[in-house]
Amino acid sequence: MAKRVVLAYSGGLDTSVAVRWMIEQWGVEVICLAVDVGQASDDWDVVRERAKAAGALEAIVVDARKEFADDFVAPALKANAMYEGRYPLVSALSRPVIVKHLVETARYHGAQAVAHGCTGKGNDQVRFEVSTRALAPDLEVLAPVRGWGMTREDSIHYAYDHQIPIVATKEKVYSIDDNLWGRAIECGEMEDPWAVPPPGVWLLTKPTETEPRDVVIGFEQGQPVSVDGERLEMLDIIDRLNGIVGSYGWGRIDMVENRRVGIKSRETYECPAALALILAHKDLESICLERDLDREKARIEPRYAELIYDGLWFSPLKESFDAFVDKSQEFVTGEVRLRLAPGSCQVTGRRSEHSLYDYELATYDAADTFRHEDSAGFVRLWGLGIETWSARQASKRPSS
Ligand code: ARG
Repeated sequence: MAKRVVLAYSGGLDTSVAVRWMIEQWGVEVICLAVDVGQASDDWDVVRERAKAAGALEAIVVDARKEFADDFVAPALKANAMYEGRYPLVSALSRPVIVKHLVETARYHGAQAVAHGCTGKGNDQVRFEVSTRALAPDLEVLAPVRGWGMTREDSIHYAYDHQIPIVATKEKVYSIDDNLWGRAIECGEMEDPWAVPPPGVWLLTKPTETEPRDVVIGFEQGQPVSVDGERLEMLDIIDRLNGIVGSYGWGRIDMVENRRVGIKSRETYECPAALALILAHKDLESICLERDLDREKARIEPRYAELIYDGLWFSPLKESFDAFVDKSQEFVTGEVRLRLAPGSCQVTGRRSEHSLYDYELATYDAADTFRHEDSAGFVRLWGLGIETWSARQASKRPSS
């Protein structure tokens, strides 16, 4: 009996060619699974037809947008997860949810393997394979594109020769990956890190608004729950903010990042909602988290982001961090006001019923309740060690 494989299918050139190539070269049966995580442009009927035309036994599309928003994006937001301090992990976050569905589909259809269309140079292969091994160590993971040795041109020829209806042209120079958390644009002239990204690469952050406006984001226990007072699901909050914030041309990232496979790569991203939400969430934490908790959380955040980036979403350390992060969010409830203007997004206010900001302690006016007399002794003891050091050591250094 032929081996059955579930392929993570995007409808693009590589995965379409991969369907036929695996059938021809390996004699397997291929089930295509496309996972909707909020890609902007996909017409799923077309994707389904293309998979069939390429030779797939079945072409399945799963709408995982809500699950992606609630179970993958929301925890990452609570952890303010940004790889190397800048990238909100758009692609990295989507791979584990895709793998979850790959594994479920493989089980349902009795497949022995899953497959992905990644090359050998990127991070996504790491995420697909490590996540699969975490969830289903018995499933084989196949990576046809990594081994077939075809150039992009070869693949286009292969598709034409086999009547696989692809839309790829030789001019399509960018590698794009998108979902509701943002969009990654790589390759083309941007492979020169000095080259200015051509204006045509930006889709979510086209500046169309000129009049500044405010937007208020409400959070409950670290979870965004409303925009301008209107209660919305996480998915709709992201969608709404991508529209509003993106229309001010804000939310672009241009960086050189360290891939897991040892390559530095120039990356451009546009993530208006993600960056606005992280900005607002972090700000709300500044009034809701006690100082030591805030600092310790900030220390683990880069590590948490790295785990996601490195394909370790399903791992005991990531799970344990989630427990800590969730506990830390107990009182992160309130609102943050953002002011949008062309090219900018700034916090202009925050409030919370659990705020640790105490007006009577902070004020310099008559309402002040701070006990000024306590400070004298406190400061003297605070400086005692330094005073001793100064007298016994610093003052006795040979003068230069
Ligand atoms: N460098 C980013 C990451 O590793 C984006 C990857 C985008 N993937 C793609 N196939 N274009 O998360």
